[in-house]
Amino acid sequence: MSDRLLSDDVVGTFTLGGDLTIRRLGFGAMRISGARDADGVRDRETARQLVRRVVDRGVNFIDTANIYGYGESEEIIAEALHPYPADLVITTKAGYLPGKIQRGHITLPTQGDPDHIRAECDKSLRRLRVDTIDLYQVHAPDPHVPFDETIGAFVELQQAGKVRHIGISNVTAEQLAFAQQHCTVVTVQNRYNAGDRTSDAVIAACEAQGIGFMPWAPVLLPNRRVSSVTQQIADTHGATLQQVALQWLLHRSPNMLPIPGTSQLAHADENIDGAWVPLTIDEVSRIDEAAGA
Ligand SMILES: NC(=O)c1ccc[n+]([C@@H]2O[C@H](COP(=O)([O-])OP(=O)(O)OC[C@H]3O[C@@H](n4cnc5c(N)ncnc54)[C@H](OP(=O)(O)O)[C@@H]3O)[C@@H](O)[C@H]2O)c1
Repeated sequence: MSDRLLSDDVVGTFTLGGDLTIRRLGFGAMRISGARDADGVRDRETARQLVRRVVDRGVNFIDTANIYGYGESEEIIAEALHPYPADLVITTKAGYLPGKIQRGHITLPTQGDPDHIRAECDKSLRRLRVDTIDLYQVHAPDPHVPFDETIGAFVELQQAGKVRHIGISNVTAEQLAFAQQHCTVVTVQNRYNAGDRTSDAVIAACEAQGIGFMPWAPVLLPNRRVSSVTQQIADTHGATLQQVALQWLLHRSPNMLPIPGTSQLAHADENIDGAWVPLTIDEVSRIDEAAGA
């Protein structure tokens, strides 16, 4: 296990909304409530240790959501870290109906109704023990609620001082442009990795306008050719596929803010250590070629 500290010069920094500067390798807290102790039993103290560990190693950007672990993810972050370090940025989200994913579905139903968003924001503020959420993200557009109404609720929360900055998630370039007519969008969070380039147009828009792009599923490579080439490159560095996948993302764009998540301390350490893998431009190109990009 490495104790190297993720300083600004290792991965670079990015400034969100002109005032929140973060290191470009964050942590996704979707699974922390699933952390298990040495006996394999789900354990909240192990989850708290995991969160403390990533911050101790220099991560200063944590992504969570109201629905992760039915709110437990936000609670664990607060239990582990509150009062928070001054440079820590915590982002959370609303826009799905909290609960259990129903059989035959892969996500929860969206819920973008303004009343729901307002109520969920208050719950997140309480669980995170803050007066203002640094970055509050629309988790996904709700096809049953006009997008401007959902965004309007986020803008109201911002005007009330409960939210500092607004981000959006699971959007197309067109939806990003639409959202920007109603608020200042500081981040977009979409599925993206070396094997899934669906959001290339969104990334181009983010780069052109100084918006941060937070790829989810950063270490899950769905494309077999891409994962095979990535693994070969990883082997030559004595690294893991996940570490090279993260390095590829960091090379892909200066606006890229990967938030690898895990329920395991060893994987969290491994992902942070990925910051030091010396991927070459030629290796980046080989991965791009495998993806047909
Ligand atoms: N906006 C959205 O709709 C959305 C959707 C999904 C996720 N997210 C956010 O994005 C973050 C990352 O997303 P994600 O899809 O990658 O989900 P994730 O739950 O954070 O991680 C996905 C998988 O990667 C595994 N993993 C992580 N590091 C690994 C390593 N070094 N070696 C082997 N396996 C590893 C994890 O298993 P272990 O737990 O066993 O390590 C887990 O099964 C999430 O934590 C969440 O904050 C957002």
